[in-house]
Amino acid sequence: MKHLYVETYGCQMNVADSELMFGILAEVGYSPTEDPGAADVLLVNTCAVRDNAEQRVIGRLGELKRYKRPGVVLGTVGCMAQRLGQQLLDQVPYVDLVIGPDGYRALPELIERAEGGDRMAEVEFKAWEHYEDVQPQRPTSCKAFVTIQRGCDYRCTFCIVPMTRGRERSRRLLDVVAEVEALVEGGVSEVTLLGQTVNSYHDDGSDFADLLREVGHIPGIHRVRFTSPHPNDFSDAVIEAMASVATVCEHVHLPVQSGSSRVLKLMGRRYDRNGYIDCVDRLRRAIPELAISTDIIVGFPGETDEEFLETDNLVREVGFDDAFTFKYSQRKGTGAVRLKHQVPEAVKGERLERIIGTVREVACIKNIGMIGASVEVLVEGVARRGELLQSRTRSNKVVLIDGPAEWIGTYLTVRLTGTTGATFTGVPTSTGKELAIVG
Ligand code: 5AD
Repeated sequence: MKHLYVETYGCQMNVADSELMFGILAEVGYSPTEDPGAADVLLVNTCAVRDNAEQRVIGRLGELKRYKRPGVVLGTVGCMAQRLGQQLLDQVPYVDLVIGPDGYRALPELIERAEGGDRMAEVEFKAWEHYEDVQPQRPTSCKAFVTIQRGCDYRCTFCIVPMTRGRERSRRLLDVVAEVEALVEGGVSEVTLLGQTVNSYHDDGSDFADLLREVGHIPGIHRVRFTSPHPNDFSDAVIEAMASVATVCEHVHLPVQSGSSRVLKLMGRRYDRNGYIDCVDRLRRAIPELAISTDIIVGFPGETDEEFLETDNLVREVGFDDAFTFKYSQRKGTGAVRLKHQVPEAVKGERLERIIGTVREVACIKNIGMIGASVEVLVEGVARRGELLQSRTRSNKVVLIDGPAEWIGTYLTVRLTGTTGATFTGVPTSTGKELAIVG
């Protein structure tokens, strides 16, 4: 029996891709290990959206080098691998394999060649590749990621992803439904549908609204989530499906990137400030309880202090429940590289700090307002620190509760008793057993 160790960086699709790789290599006799020292093959699944994500991987590869006994293969896969290709082999001499997101099917063969001493980069785009016949190997859990679309046809000027994941293509609706049905058989009750612009999903005559209805009505499915949508792809039909399918959770992660219409135009986002606010309004009219999180980039080329403040006050105006905030990072090959007036690092740093403060303040006020409420949670597992269990509301808020491990995987009603600002503590008002039957 050979052992495979995988380290995953970046987005949820990378987590799903790593599960695909475990599946592909299980077919040829590899079993997973969490100990890099016990591995015959080590893969680092990488992200390319920001330079610091790549630098971290370079550093990590240096550390993993010590596990390279003779015959052990060290591979770099994912978006950074795709972006750099041969260059990564040249730069990091102890890396044997460089494979982009469309190349995982060839892993068994490429690993065999690497064992024989070859060093290779496999970075060809395959617009047909969905890994449809591959059985992903997922950890045992009540939740699962399901990729429904790969690649991206938008051309946001800051973003490298179209260059690393290729053209957008959607899986067939029937294949997605069959996969979710099989997951339910295996004990999954919550799925997160994944795509780069997930709500632009289309298959023949079916769109994302149809997919939400089909997946959301599969018996045994209790919660449906999706990430990440693009504001322009929220058609009335998609919003109507979100509102009317009871299993679709009241949370949307809706990247805004900037609150300035001028910056949004330079970013190639294809909506302006009012367009975004309008999208939020339409969503909230249909789903009043909707929690909204977002992604924000500060320090995009040419962003003035005033334009940054427009983003800062958009956080208050929309009232985001949460936000991932980033300093703009220049990516070779993207449209924004040509823009003048790069914002100095120090200014980006100041803006980031300020926006993080605003996001925390806005989220904290919202969360304090929820204390005392009774909400449904899914108990996901043991909390990272301490003896408590970690659970999650439909609106994607984390609630720590005190209870037995048997509750993991079940749905409870809890009363929210406190918040740190970001996460909650709660007390169950129903036991896991009662609701487990319902789920
Ligand atoms: N610099 C900073 N942040 C970026 N993102 C994507 N590209 C860049 C970049 N060049 C952020 C966006 C996106 C999230 C996944 O990463 O906010 O939504």
